[in-house]
Amino acid sequence: MSHDIADPGLAADGALRVEWARRRMPVLASIRERFEKETPLAGIRLGACLHVTAETANLMETLRAGGAEVALCASNPLSTQDDVAAALVASGIPVYAVRGEDAESYYSHIRAVLDIEPHITMDDGADLVTTLLKERPHQLPIGSTEETTTGVIRLRAMARAGVLRFPVVAVNDSATKHLFDNHHGTGQSALDGVIRSTNILLAGKTVVVIGYGDCGIGVAARADGMGARVIVVEVDPVRALSAAMEGYQVTTVDEAARVGDLFITVTGDLHVLRGEHFDVMRDGAVLANAGHFDVEIDLGDLERRATGKRRIRHELDEWAMPDGRRLHVVAEGRLVNLGAAEGHPAEVMDMSFANQALAAEWLLASADELEPQVYRLPEALDADVAAIALEAMGGRLERLTEEQKAYLASWEMGT
Ligand SMILES: NC(=O)c1ccc[n+]([C@@H]2O[C@H](COP(=O)([O-])OP(=O)(O)OC[C@H]3O[C@@H](n4cnc5c(N)ncnc54)[C@H](O)[C@@H]3O)[C@@H](O)[C@H]2O)c1
Repeated sequence: MSHDIADPGLAADGALRVEWARRRMPVLASIRERFEKETPLAGIRLGACLHVTAETANLMETLRAGGAEVALCASNPLSTQDDVAAALVASGIPVYAVRGEDAESYYSHIRAVLDIEPHITMDDGADLVTTLLKERPHQLPIGSTEETTTGVIRLRAMARAGVLRFPVVAVNDSATKHLFDNHHGTGQSALDGVIRSTNILLAGKTVVVIGYGDCGIGVAARADGMGARVIVVEVDPVRALSAAMEGYQVTTVDEAARVGDLFITVTGDLHVLRGEHFDVMRDGAVLANAGHFDVEIDLGDLERRATGKRRIRHELDEWAMPDGRRLHVVAEGRLVNLGAAEGHPAEVMDMSFANQALAAEWLLASADELEPQVYRLPEALDADVAAIALEAMGGRLERLTEEQKAYLASWEMGT
């Protein structure tokens, strides 16, 4: 979709969805109010490559309220909510994205956003930055922001290789992003995607969670809470031990492949489920990926083995194996929560996108002092975001007394 093909009916549906999300995004609302008064982004062109969802629409409106001219494309071919894209277009924000687009149009849409020659780029997975650096090395922005773990890993690799040419803020590294978005957001919405696509009962099922990082911890906890028997697969000994102490069985993919009913990959890594695992999986097994790219389930290996494939339900493909077993893949192995459901709930995107808006402001204010490196946002901003979100949830923060402050700051008063 681009700005010249807006659909009024679709746009009206999208506007309602955006309004519904807005009511659950109090932190972003408070930033928007301040941005309207202070316009810290006045005169700035901002190009964003994010999942085109109702929550992202609220971020775009906040950035525009701050004075920026914004343009948006998708960060995943399957994650665009077309009604939301139409609503944004109707409100005057150019959007280049359509759900189910192929790789060619995905990258042509990224180029359309780069055509506005952004002063700031905003990424989810680093596709915008990598395309810019490869194809337009002379069109450097003031800086960029990055939403997700996989994008931050790519950007740190670029910084190490000396190819990163401008500063980037790793929004993912803010505590109020990864401790809530990755953990609670992915935990709930990954299962939401699996349920919408399969409608299977989780109680009593064996759910294999591959990758026990910020996202995997949330997925395992939610599956456990719904009565599943959870098996965790991890390569990091500390994280594996922590899963074991939560009471989960911890083992290898080879072993888990034989017993799992549902597999959820969330590693950010390549081919964690592959041919040898497909060979031993049980008839009816369901495979879903919640990691950023569609590389965690090796669909090439599955295709080479299978005798056929049919779309059996919403975003669910059934692959027939030569021995009669059927394996099911949700959302073509792409981000299950965005491909088969609606992505994270607004309450967690509120904090992630509050960090994005603050990161754009901070980049501009600090540009003179920053190097072409990956930065975290100052911790004080994390505390501000958390305090507003807590208050919006009806929570109240305890305050240190003067005596306690003195005690905690001293080394003399041991007892
Ligand atoms: N679905 C979403 O909406 C969503 C939200 C946030 C992040 N993500 C993505 O999810 C992925 C994971 O993010 P995270 O924040 O949990 O990262 P993380 O680094 O905290 O966790 C990843 C874990 O996977 C483990 N791992 C790596 N390779 C493995 C392998 N071959 N087998 C088993 N374990 C392996 C790592 O040791 C690590 O503990 C990333 O791609 C990230 O971009 C998705």
